[in-house]
Amino acid sequence: MALKILLVDPETKWLEETQLFLKDELYQVASVSNGKSAQAILFEHKFFAVVISLETTDHSAVQVLNYIKSNCPNLKIILTLEKESLEKREELDCGKLKKMGVNSFLTKPFDKQALRDVLENQQSIHDLLDTANKRGKKEEVEDEALSDDDLTSISIHEFYSSKAVLFDVFIKLSEDKFVKILHSGDTFSSERIEFYKVEKKLDYLYFKNKDRMKYIKFNNYMVKGLLKSKKIGVKEKSAMLREAAVKLMDIAYSDGIKPQILDQGKEICTNVLGIIDNHKNLHKLLRKHELFDPDAYSHSYLVTLFASSLIKQLEWQSESMIDMMALAAMFHDIGKSEMNEFLISKRPEDMDNARLAEYKTHPEVAIRILEGNKVINDNIKQIIFQHHEAWDGSGFPKGIKGRKIMLMANAIRLIDDFVHVIKSEELPPVDALRFIISDRDGVKKYHSDLIEGFIKIFIDPKSLRKSA
Ligand SMILES: [Fe+2]
Ligand SMILES: [Fe+2]
Repeated sequence: MALKILLVDPETKWLEETQLFLKDELYQVASVSNGKSAQAILFEHKFFAVVISLETTDHSAVQVLNYIKSNCPNLKIILTLEKESLEKREELDCGKLKKMGVNSFLTKPFDKQALRDVLENQQSIHDLLDTANKRGKKEEVEDEALSDDDLTSISIHEFYSSKAVLFDVFIKLSEDKFVKILHSGDTFSSERIEFYKVEKKLDYLYFKNKDRMKYIKFNNYMVKGLLKSKKIGVKEKSAMLREAAVKLMDIAYSDGIKPQILDQGKEICTNVLGIIDNHKNLHKLLRKHELFDPDAYSHSYLVTLFASSLIKQLEWQSESMIDMMALAAMFHDIGKSEMNEFLISKRPEDMDNARLAEYKTHPEVAIRILEGNKVINDNIKQIIFQHHEAWDGSGFPKGIKGRKIMLMANAIRLIDDFVHVIKSEELPPVDALRFIISDRDGVKKYHSDLIEGFIKIFIDPKSLRKSA
């Protein structure tokens, strides 16, 4: 079924044009010009998303947002802003609007493709595949406007065949010359992949940089499907998860970070995984967690990579500290593997009180799970136990503050938040860190040495220090 979108905007011409564009994109669209009508139609019908102008009158946009918050909590909200009003309204607080449920912002005038991308970013993989399947097949075409900088390469050996790909796929003819071989929605059969591999002798396929979040969603979906397959052994499943984590890191997490630091971080991850593989009990624990929540592995991998890279930047670090840090980071959320399955996909801010209380036990549960394990010493356990404590005392489970918290535990807290911001806000790493350090209250959760150390792993640390 087509997804339903509501457009709310005082400008009739914009409404008409946007409605036509979205219909072409296979959405079902309704439009109204004021807030009162918006509430009336939201009361009657269920929509997937609303695209609402901040200039909405006769019930302001804020009134409509409040209405949505209490009456349609799952509705995705895209707020459109006029450039001039953005300059005038100093009081416009994006953080506050986010808390009111706004998922994304667009500043007018924006091209329709940007609206399309924003809407697609809000959709589940199932919605995306459903729409992609309905789009017709098209021919191979050369894309004149593309250059090497616009595309991300992916080894053809790592590409999964699928009923529908969610993004355009290209092959490279020569420098800055690309041919689109698949349009979003086309089937990419294993025969066709073989054809490009064997006949055309291609090693890489390409997709547009702007599609990387879609690529990641697609890849995770394919990996999760394969994890359920009985034909694939446990060892291969672990290998797939590991590959997916490295790929995720290369595509979404490496922008703006010093390459040598990423290489060192990857090496630390490989070492710690080697230690885990040599200890049956640890290996078993990690696998149990992976199979319970397939996202858990890439999350732990990313936290390990960045937390150990961060510790490496501090003056007083040592080899044994880095090993300790890496093990703690790899197992920091192991307590979640005993939680209710319902909590897997939820963020704490979306949980009710009972669920939140259960979620907050995961550091303690981890200690119980790891009890008696020789490789995980008391220091590592303590880091894991404290990984949600905050330097200003606002964390859990104990709410301790300052020097009572181990610095390494606080490092995991910072990196954990950083990894979540990249994922939920879909920001490149440098902007995710900027997002964290520009929140004057939020930044008090971390020791300042850690922020300083973390800034150092970026290629242009000066630009970050300025905004800190
Ligand atoms: Fe956690
Ligand atoms: Fe975590």
